[in-house]
Order: sequence, then C-alpha cells, then structure tokens
Amino acid sequence: MIQLIRGFKDILPEEISLWQHIETEASLLLQNFGFCEIRIPIMERTELFARSIGEDTDIVEKEMYTFPDRKGELITLRPEATASIVRAYIQHRLYSQDPVQKLYTIGPMFRRERPQKGRYRQFYQIDAEVFGVESPLMDAQMIHMLMTLFSRLNITDCAAHINSLGCPVCRPGFKVALMQKLTDRIDRLCEDCRRRSAKNPLRVMDCKVPSCREALTDIPSILDYLCPDCHTHFETVQSQLKTLGVKHEIDRGLVRGLDYYTRTAFEIQTGLLGAQSAVVGGGRYDGLVKALGGPDIPGIGFAIGFDRLAELAALNLSDISKKPGLFIAALGTAAQLQAFEWACQLSVSGIQTEMDMSNRSLKSQMKQADRLGASQVLILGEQELNDKAAILRDMTTKTQIILPFDGLIEKLTSVWNSPEGCP
Ligand code: HAM
Repeated sequence: MIQLIRGFKDILPEEISLWQHIETEASLLLQNFGFCEIRIPIMERTELFARSIGEDTDIVEKEMYTFPDRKGELITLRPEATASIVRAYIQHRLYSQDPVQKLYTIGPMFRRERPQKGRYRQFYQIDAEVFGVESPLMDAQMIHMLMTLFSRLNITDCAAHINSLGCPVCRPGFKVALMQKLTDRIDRLCEDCRRRSAKNPLRVMDCKVPSCREALTDIPSILDYLCPDCHTHFETVQSQLKTLGVKHEIDRGLVRGLDYYTRTAFEIQTGLLGAQSAVVGGGRYDGLVKALGGPDIPGIGFAIGFDRLAELAALNLSDISKKPGLFIAALGTAAQLQAFEWACQLSVSGIQTEMDMSNRSLKSQMKQADRLGASQVLILGEQELNDKAAILRDMTTKTQIILPFDGLIEKLTSVWNSPEGCP
C-alpha cells in the first residue's frame, strides 16, 4: 500500500468541522477588521523567497522544496505567504489607488523540517498582511485581533511575546555589539552559527542548539540600542496593548527566523504543544516592499499555524459538530423511490438529509440513523404509502408523530429552519 509522504498528513472528516469552525471564525474576524481575502499560487520563483526570507535563514538554506522546472528555472513550493503577497501587491500595483491594503490568505505551506508533533512538512497558515500603515496602533491592533480569535476559540493558555528589532538606523549598532560577543564565544557555537555570526548575527539568536543557547546567555538586547523613533514606536505598541487590555510579555531575545523584520516582532506562544511553542509569528517589515522592487511602503503581518491552532482548539472546544440531520428510513422499492425524491428536495432546502439506498431492514436503517447522529427519522413503508402519511420519530425523546404526505416537505422545512431548530 502506498503511504503518504513523511511529514505530510491527511485532515480526516472527523477533524474537518473543527477546521471549518476555525476558518469561519478567523475569516469573520479578519473581515470585521477590514481585511480582504487574496489567493496566491503554491509555487513561486525561488529567488522571491531567497531575497525576502533571507539567504542565511534555515528556511532558505535547508528547508525549501525547490525544483528546476523543464527549462531549468528554479521554482519553490511556498514556505510561507508573506513574500507572495508582497509580490502580488507590487505586481498588480495594489498600492496605486490606496497604499493601505489589508489582505489575508489561508492555505498550505511547505518546509522540509524534521517532522514531530506540531511540526509538519506540509502545514497550513492563516496569514494576514497590512501595507501602508507605519503607525504602532496597527501593531497593537493586530495582536489584539489575534488574542480575540484565541479567546473566541476558548484558548486561554497562551501569551503574546513582543520585541522590537529596530530599523536600518539602529540595528547596525546592535549587530556590531552582538558580533563582538559572538567572536569571544565562537568555539561554543554550532557550525551554522559560526558561519552566520559575522554575516547575519541575529540568526544566531534564533538558533535552537543547546550549546548556542548557553553561549548567548548574557548577550546584549536590541532594546538597549533602539533609536528614538523605534523606541517611541515600541513604547506606543506597549501602551496601546495595555489600553486594549491585551496581556503581553517583552521578550528581549525574540528575533524570529526570517530576515525581513523591522521594529515590532511578536509571537503567540503556548506551553501546551511540547517543543513547538509558537502558534503565531509576525511582525513589521517596513523595508520589504521596496527591497522587492516596489515603492517605499511599510508592511506588517502575521501567520497563525493552523495545525497548531487546531490542536489547541481541540483541547478546549466542546462539541462543534454539524447540526444533526434527518434520516429517511424507507422499506420496499416504492417507498425508497419516494424517499429518494424527498431526500433530494430536503437537502436542497437546507436540511441535511440521509437515506439508505441498499434496501436494508428497518432495524439496520435505524442503527445507521443513530450512527450518523440524525435527530429525526422519517419512516416510510408499504403501510405509510397506502395511508399517504409518514411517521416522524424523534431520536432523543423516542416520540413519534404522523405527517401526511400532503405538505410534508413544507412542514419539515419550515419547522427545521425555524429559530427553535429541528422539530
Ligand atoms: P513563521 O514563524 O515561520 O512566520 O510561521 C508562523 C507560524 O506557522 C508558526 O508560529 C507556526 O505556528 C506555524 N508553522 C511554521 N512552521 C511550521 C511547521 N513546520 N509545521 C507546523 N506549523 C508551522 C511566517 O511564516 C511569517 N510569514 C509570518 C509573517 C506574516 N510575518 C509577517 N507576516
């Protein structure tokens, strides 16, 4: 039997109602905050990711699924959505009427990481990006929106971690200080960090190798190097989070694993998913649109790890399975044909309707109705056909009523769709 690829997974029907529920809640909330959906391709030119995420990052160095296409051009399965949304923003000149654009997308991403709980090679993200807003109010609003989503999904065991990564004015000073510290401890660093420490020392701060983490214990914090503008920006993010009642922690070591960030960087972390603590990652990338060939327009965004969010939500949400439906139990060919007609009409009018198409006994049809979680069963046999009236059985109370064929569809539809729900 051919099995799926390591690190890839199926999302089975029993999990789908939770995924749909999360997707609906997230889309509604994003739309209420003014976001519009955008759909971007699964593949892009490799160069797009290399230039935006950064050549020295783990994602670009080790984790991308990159292939030469037939003409030899390198293309990559997207490891994230930000680069593609920035490309689309520039390519379609979405800024031409109004530079402020709020866009979101939901879909699969691909990274060839070592698979473990909460870490997959195909995973899903709910990604949101805002262009054209430099104000720190937007940073605070995004984190507030995320925490609102989490609370709507009954997820409380998580915390927002924030930091500022400065800007091209103040970051170079920090880099020099960091490089000096790293040079002193170079022999304690892993091979990747030794290579990266001179060129891109911030990457060392994101290394998960224990010896590197130990070597970094008393390194300087970028917060002590911020220029006045970045300092004020970050102070405002914090004060607005406070105003909005969003609990947050300043995480002086948070640098994120992608190179495009400037100023605010944030994660929403949880202790409930083992080694994978980040459920959301995001931040500002004020120089990225320009670096990719567009105008000098700031950007900020985040991506929620959908798989991780679903795992967390599953721990906390009570039953959100679909509204139970109607089952039509029909005995004999004539009854089955009548049931078939009704099942089609009722499904079209919005009642989830099932029937048995293989002429099973009444007992096994009732069992099937039970298994499917039907709240009502419409029973139709030879006697009912003669009487021109079917039996409607409530599966919870076990009570039965007689429904004449005449007006049966209208009666069921109106009662089912009434605010009180199923009859
Ligand atoms: P990221 O931190 O690489 O950021 O990913 C965001 C989230 O995606 C993570 O916090 C995690 O929940 C989830 N995730 C990442 N890798 C995996 C994986 N292998 N398996 C399961 N879940 C995973 C970005 O992707 C940025 N593009 C976020 C962003 C948007 N920044 C600005 N705008």
